[in-house]
Amino acid sequence: MSSNPSSLPTPEKTTGLHVGEPAPGVAKVDPIMVVDNVSRTFGGLTAVNVEHLEVPRGAITALIGPNGAGKTTLFNLMTGFDTPDTGTWSFDGSSLAGVPAFKVAQRGQVRTFQLTKALGLLTVMENMKLGAKDQKGEGIFRSLFPFIWKKQDAEIEARALELLERFKLAKLKDEFAASLSGGQRKLLEMARALMSVPTLVMLDEPMAGVNPALTESLLGHILDLKKQGMTVLFVEHDMHMVRHIADWVVVMAEGAVIAEGPPDEVMKNPAVVDAYLGSHQEVDLGVVTGRIEGDSAAAAAALFEELHGDESGKGGK
Ligand SMILES: Nc1ncnc2c1ncn2[C@@H]1O[C@H](COP(=O)(O)OP(=O)(O)OP(=O)(O)O)[C@@H](O)[C@H]1O
Ligand SMILES: [Mg+2]
Repeated sequence: MSSNPSSLPTPEKTTGLHVGEPAPGVAKVDPIMVVDNVSRTFGGLTAVNVEHLEVPRGAITALIGPNGAGKTTLFNLMTGFDTPDTGTWSFDGSSLAGVPAFKVAQRGQVRTFQLTKALGLLTVMENMKLGAKDQKGEGIFRSLFPFIWKKQDAEIEARALELLERFKLAKLKDEFAASLSGGQRKLLEMARALMSVPTLVMLDEPMAGVNPALTESLLGHILDLKKQGMTVLFVEHDMHMVRHIADWVVVMAEGAVIAEGPPDEVMKNPAVVDAYLGSHQEVDLGVVTGRIEGDSAAAAAALFEELHGDESGKGGK
């Protein structure tokens, strides 16, 4: 199966992140983001209703849940792209309520989008420069002292080039972003997010629509973020990917957090299986969500076996 990362070396998992039994809202030893009673409704629909959530620092946390669970809405709320009806949340000990998106990014919390926001009519390099931390709010100062911005511009360009090299996009730096493949645009968006030297990187479906070769390098890049000391919170539908790279998994359904814990434990949780599968328990979680290509029957059988062990006759060959 193309997206099964079992051929890749298993990354080292970070454990000991929580205090007490894993359950929705469980305390973390060192939380970087804390959410309290955040809700957002659209008309009569409650898109998000999170009582309490702590995101562990220095780890890779996957945010999973069926379509419409509220994952993207939660991302929007946390990053200042949308405003909740109720609730408070903090990043690195400071409240982010009412803080606009660009200031959230300046404080070190950046996000990418499910539908990539790479600007097609700008070049790859221009897109990267837009991600630099101090682009906003100092226009007059910069224009008065061109020698300052020239130096900064050179530094910004150097950082952009370094990141483009790392993401294998350097050769494309003068191409319009519109000419990139979907996968390359995902890479560009991730590289651009790193221009602001973040401490928390939030990725909304970074692997969706990316071909298997690029998926592997994206996985590598996500693992690198953690190695460099950053915290990662990512939304992903492919359970094989989640299992492979996540240290911690938070599960949302109908706006609420319904489970959290280490990947293997969470995926055995009957509430999680139910939320995803409803009555279709013979189907792979990844197949349900449409993100796994290839032999879905075999994938389903493998996962079913993992979930139900020997007591099931259906999971075998
Ligand atoms: N701007 C909006 N106006 C009205 N309803 C919205 C809006 N944004 C989201 N919703 C609704 O809120 C719910 C949660 O949507 P959201 O996009 O957060 O889900 P998701 O978990 O990211 O799903 P997916 O896995 O499909 O990306 C859905 O029912 C969606 O239709
Ligand atoms: Mg979404």
